Amino acid sequence: MQKIGTQNEWVDRAKAVLPAGGFGNFDPNVVLSHGKGSRVWDQDGTEYVDYLIGSGPMLLGHGHPEVLEAVFEQLPSGMTFFANNPQGIELAEAIVAAVPCLEQLRFVTSGGEADMYAIRLARAFTGRDKILKFEGGYHGMSAEAQMSLAPQQQVNFPQPVPDSGGIPADVAEHVLVAPYNDLAAVEALLAEQSQQIAAILVEPLQRIIPPEPGYLQGLRAMCDQYGVLLIFDEIVTGFRLAYGGAQEHYGVTPDICTLGKVIGGGCPLAAIGASTEIMQCFDREKAGAESWLMQLGTLSGNPIAAVAGLKTLEILRRPGTYDTLRSTGERLMQMQSEKLAAAGIAHQMVGDATLFDVYFTNRNCRDYRSAKHDNSAHNVIYNQSLRQNGVFKSPGKLYPSLALSDEDMEITERAFRTAASVLADRIV
Ligand SMILES: Cc1ncc(COP(=O)(O)O)c(C=O)c1O
Repeated sequence: MQKIGTQNEWVDRAKAVLPAGGFGNFDPNVVLSHGKGSRVWDQDGTEYVDYLIGSGPMLLGHGHPEVLEAVFEQLPSGMTFFANNPQGIELAEAIVAAVPCLEQLRFVTSGGEADMYAIRLARAFTGRDKILKFEGGYHGMSAEAQMSLAPQQQVNFPQPVPDSGGIPADVAEHVLVAPYNDLAAVEALLAEQSQQIAAILVEPLQRIIPPEPGYLQGLRAMCDQYGVLLIFDEIVTGFRLAYGGAQEHYGVTPDICTLGKVIGGGCPLAAIGASTEIMQCFDREKAGAESWLMQLGTLSGNPIAAVAGLKTLEILRRPGTYDTLRSTGERLMQMQSEKLAAAGIAHQMVGDATLFDVYFTNRNCRDYRSAKHDNSAHNVIYNQSLRQNGVFKSPGKLYPSLALSDEDMEITERAFRTAASVLADRIV
């Protein structure tokens, strides 16, 4: 049910009860009222073509009728059980069948929680403490994940920089940081410290920066050589880059992966999974009381999220779905680039057709530091104009959805043209 009240009234109410006026996720001056298909509306009734799509989960668009039907059917039979339920078991079966590295999985409620368990699982399995992650790589909010997520100061690798208050100093002792897309840096760390390193944790597509040819294959080969586990954080890329995720798309199979966003069909659900051998760490009988990794959560395997996820996956399996998503994304990238080029603005499209954005620079952006060549002032002006012209997106990403219509593409193309000319005028 839509709530009464203007956007400004809700912004003020939020300021009173939410620190920094919001949920911490997005511009707190926007209060969304509802979404349908490819569109969202704010509390003042302004309509947008939605390229935020809930930060990724709503790949099918908002309120897909088949997903709604599955959820409505489940609601009266129970909203949460804590206990095993067929819906959750079926979803686990569907995910395991889809994702190459998985034989078993455990459900959790958020991607960050899944990443926390992935780190702990790698430590429990190998008996080692250190995790190698990449500068600028995002893995949720655990203490380890907050190391060198978006550091303001440039320190020497592999020293981590905590990006949050409240993190004990000794967490840094267990985290090594390397630049993304640099195999030599990883090789040097493994050669020196592999006996203490449990895993390499990587976003296969880091934020929107693609892996260079051979990079993920190189990480895989080094992990095999040095006996270190490879974790793919597929919270964003899972069921997006391909039905089997980035591991299917790039043809590299990790040891452990995490999934979230799409698998819950818009409800809170994420997962962590691996081979049966590795996942035995979660089984007290098989792992033994000493090395057992305890894992539980009140909403894990929630049946509403499970039926929403199951129906979403069923729809994604239909022939041609990923071709449509990719061709839509390619068209969006191309039309955006054309408008910026016509306005004489230095730029490049970065990412994958299923998830991308524009960087305002011609220089090569292959890791966190080089991505700083992106002109952030240009970015702000451009994104502001897109929003004013009916395109809703996050400041750093554009997610195409499967709900986009020809009319949406026309609105978007006009917004790209206007934003490019607004930016060109402001640069002069
Ligand atoms: C790559 C990656 N890992 C982890 C997370 C955290 O997921 P959640 O927000 O569900 O905790 C995100 C969220 O955007 C993500 O993009």
